Amino acid sequence: DGLAVIVVAAGSGTRLGYGMPKALVPVAGRPILEHALATVCGTLPGAAVIVTVPAGDTDLTAVARAAGAAAVTGGATRAQSVAAALTALPAGVTHVLVHDAARCLTPPAVLERVVTALHTGAQAVVPVTPVTDTVRGVDTHGRSTGTVDRAGLRSVQTPQGFHRALLERVNRAAGLLPDGPLDATGEDPRLGHSVRTAETATTVTGSAGDPEGITDDASLVELFAPEHPVEFVAGHEESFKITRPLDLVLAHAIVRERDS
Ligand code: CTP
Ligand code: MG
Repeated sequence: DGLAVIVVAAGSGTRLGYGMPKALVPVAGRPILEHALATVCGTLPGAAVIVTVPAGDTDLTAVARAAGAAAVTGGATRAQSVAAALTALPAGVTHVLVHDAARCLTPPAVLERVVTALHTGAQAVVPVTPVTDTVRGVDTHGRSTGTVDRAGLRSVQTPQGFHRALLERVNRAAGLLPDGPLDATGEDPRLGHSVRTAETATTVTGSAGDPEGITDDASLVELFAPEHPVEFVAGHEESFKITRPLDLVLAHAIVRERDS
């Protein structure tokens, strides 16, 4: 029905430290990717699902295919993995969700909220949660610049949802996808020094096709298509990203709780 879901699983899992791609690490006996795909495919049965896997992978590819998903080789960074998946979208796709395999316990309701927002006209959708820690700013020496009011902050999750054309456009503008048209500044983004297309405050060094400090897809929209506001929907605490060993303990406990 015009929807595709890119599940990024090409990372190495360095911080988890299991000596294998993170998406292959088992939670309650099943790989992280398998948990993620069970929810995606079960919640959005009409969607085309594309999984990014590490170069040379066979194990995650098998998990993807068993779930009815396609596998494509990812890139050196998350952003490059997303771009690789965008080149593999089937014809007829109008909307794309980008989801971290590492958020393998995302409740179905979060996916549904993102899809509903897209279908009611949003161009870019991000699930967010309140920040619960007290947060301080620091200067370049690590010295406190004071407590930041957390009421004005949100933590960002996935799946993030986009109109396909917009996501492709900002990926081209960032130099992540080739063969883009000249952007509004008249510079060719393929030259690796793309700048944002509106305003001029921030210059982005896109030399490696990977703007610095960009860790999600909606940030690309804000940087390269600021005329499209990013819409928020409610995320969920169980949509946390498995990043460090403690996260795996929590994931195991949640799966046990759900299965009981
Ligand atoms: N990812 C990807 N391609 C990359 C890097 C990351 O597809 N080159 C995916 C990961 O597989 C993960 C998601 O992006 O599902 C979020 O990244 P992260 O949590 O940082 O995972 P890793 O990069 O694998 O972990 P680490 O940074 O600890 O090595
Ligand atoms: Mg990483």
